[in-house]
Amino acid sequence: MADLVRFGVSLDKELLEKFDRHIKGKKYPTRSKAIADLMRKEFVKHKWRTGKEIAGAIVFIYNHHKRNVVDKIIDIQHDFGNIVISTQHVHLSHDECLEIIVVKGKPKQVESLADSISSIKGVEHCTVAFTSTNRM
Ligand code: NI
Repeated sequence: MADLVRFGVSLDKELLEKFDRHIKGKKYPTRSKAIADLMRKEFVKHKWRTGKEIAGAIVFIYNHHKRNVVDKIIDIQHDFGNIVISTQHVHLSHDECLEIIVVKGKPKQVESLADSISSIKGVEHCTVAFTSTNRM
């Protein structure tokens, strides 16, 4: 186990109570673990913007009956062929499709692909999940 350090933090009482309720809901065993995870999340977020390479998934929903939406999604993925690793398509219902694009590349390129997808008329709920690779 890594060396542990104890340190004191002054916080607004209400904020801490809210935080404790929040982490209890997330089933964190200790406050320390929750704070450490928050710090790591912050570092990953920073790498997302400044790192050389990130890996992640762009997840979105669309109605495939909407005019040209499928063609546009495919065209854009071909434009970003250098960072798209794979795509998974799920037929959610009669109208709705869920698509997951797995990507690896420069943060700016991944962000640009996600922006291009989410700006298509007919695409809803486009989210990006990402992590950093070891090549930072
Ligand atoms: Ni479908």
